[in-house]
Amino acid sequence: MIRKGIILAGGMGTRMSPLTKAVNKQLLPIYDKPLIFYPLSVLMLAGIKDILIIVNRGQLSQFKKILPNGRNLGIEIKFIEQKKPKGLPDAFIIGERFIGKENVALILGDNFFYGQSLTKNLKDCVKLKNGAKVFLHPVKNPNLYGVAKINKQKKIISLIEKPKKTISNLAVTGLYFFDNKVIKFSKSLKPSKRNELEIIDLLKKYKKINKLKAEFIGRGGSWLDTGSIDDFYNTSFFVSAIENRQGLKIACIEEIALKNKWINKKQILNAINFYGNCNYSKYLRKLI
Ligand code: G1P
Repeated sequence: MIRKGIILAGGMGTRMSPLTKAVNKQLLPIYDKPLIFYPLSVLMLAGIKDILIIVNRGQLSQFKKILPNGRNLGIEIKFIEQKKPKGLPDAFIIGERFIGKENVALILGDNFFYGQSLTKNLKDCVKLKNGAKVFLHPVKNPNLYGVAKINKQKKIISLIEKPKKTISNLAVTGLYFFDNKVIKFSKSLKPSKRNELEIIDLLKKYKKINKLKAEFIGRGGSWLDTGSIDDFYNTSFFVSAIENRQGLKIACIEEIALKNKWINKKQILNAINFYGNCNYSKYLRKLI
């Protein structure tokens, strides 16, 4: 059972400068809430209550204003500062003490997941005892991502980070589940040409010992990565279209905590008080 999760919310957000000069990208809005709420909601939907958020040096106080310690959500949130972005597997080196002897999930702070069967998929993934599991999703521009080629049995046969030649349309999304060997494997990685530890190299280690499994977000689900300004707006439009049609919110972290019975009416009232007079608070009031 995976009970711990890491959100990697570091990075300089250079592609979104000047927006990210004073504010961390993960605190910028995706429609009506900060981006960080979306990956956090994914871990919460998976039932993960023990969460480490890795942030850039000097940005801790910004995050704590919106996500103090998780107690308001019935969970535990810890923060750690990353001195310098060194690639995704660095999360397991920085997070070694947090992970301890357990298995762990990793989600990238700028990844957005949505879909009917997402929660069921997530609940299956946290059952992972050993090996690693990744989520794959078809995209039109696979060459911007880590890509996986699968065989007829849906087994991953090759993995490439940002391939020049298209080998498959299946992107490796920023949501991963690992056993405890992830710490040891991450420490053994060498930096790539872009001078970063690469998640694809880490996944290859699991593939080599035949312990890499794939989960699929099919065409009925959505994965968006909010790397650029255009992606930010597109994701915002997506959320706005669905929320305004259904009258239901995506990634309302208090709603998820309430449905999971981690908090009750009292914490919802506290949240309304904290957020003040806004549409988000009106939505929370309707929940109780
Ligand atoms: C990273 C990973 C890549 C993955 C992507 C998902 O890319 O290296 O394998 O597909 O996140 O968002 P980067 O954001 O470092 O370009």
